[in-house]
Amino acid sequence: MTGMTTAEYWDAQAATFDEEPDHGLTDPAVRQAWAELLLPRLPAAASVADLGCGTGTLAVLLAEAGHRVSGVDVAPRMIAAAVGKAADRRVAARFVVGDAAAPPWTPASFDVVLGRHVLWALPDPGEALRQWVQLLRPGGLLLLVEGSWSTGAGLTAAETRALVLRHRGQATVEPLDDRALWGGPITDERYLVVSRG
Ligand SMILES: C[S@@+](CC[C@H](N)C(=O)[O-])C[C@H]1O[C@@H](n2cnc3c(N)ncnc32)[C@H](O)[C@@H]1O
Repeated sequence: MTGMTTAEYWDAQAATFDEEPDHGLTDPAVRQAWAELLLPRLPAAASVADLGCGTGTLAVLLAEAGHRVSGVDVAPRMIAAAVGKAADRRVAARFVVGDAAAPPWTPASFDVVLGRHVLWALPDPGEALRQWVQLLRPGGLLLLVEGSWSTGAGLTAAETRALVLRHRGQATVEPLDDRALWGGPITDERYLVVSRG
């Protein structure tokens, strides 16, 4: 990322970001796998904060299921893609350019906080999580999809769970090794951390 800001780095990826099966969810089988992973966990008509929402694929998936989704991302081109996707799908998700490490929303105003493949990229994941947990109403649900990739990037499940337990009394890890989620076999560690308040 030398010489580029974080926003510039991710802006440069926006045009092709959805080409990965789990990013764009254009393959119906992959889309179905993510729907089956996430939707049964959410309360009805939940207010959902999607931190580092990227091109808005998951936000739109949840909005289509009747949830009220707000997404924030540091990269304007990611947000532009998300706004376009919501318009194409005729859903009313809200998207804003901003820093996921300091979310631009009122504390205790969401039922669900979701982050996929974002926490690892933040300079201080523990501090960001403190802010994310504050967004939740009492009893709120934290869902973190993260991974530890063969490139050396990412967070292990144990690292992410330990970060969550700094701010929450409970957190469980579920491996995401079903190839249906990724559109093919995986060899690295991918997982979901679930924490109910
Ligand atoms: C690997 S992508 C994941 C996007 C989306 N969550 C998904 O799963 O499709 C990481 C995203 O985090 C965003 N991001 C990185 N640092 C950020 C920050 N400090 N604040 C907000 N978004 C950030 C990037 O712009 C990018 O869209």
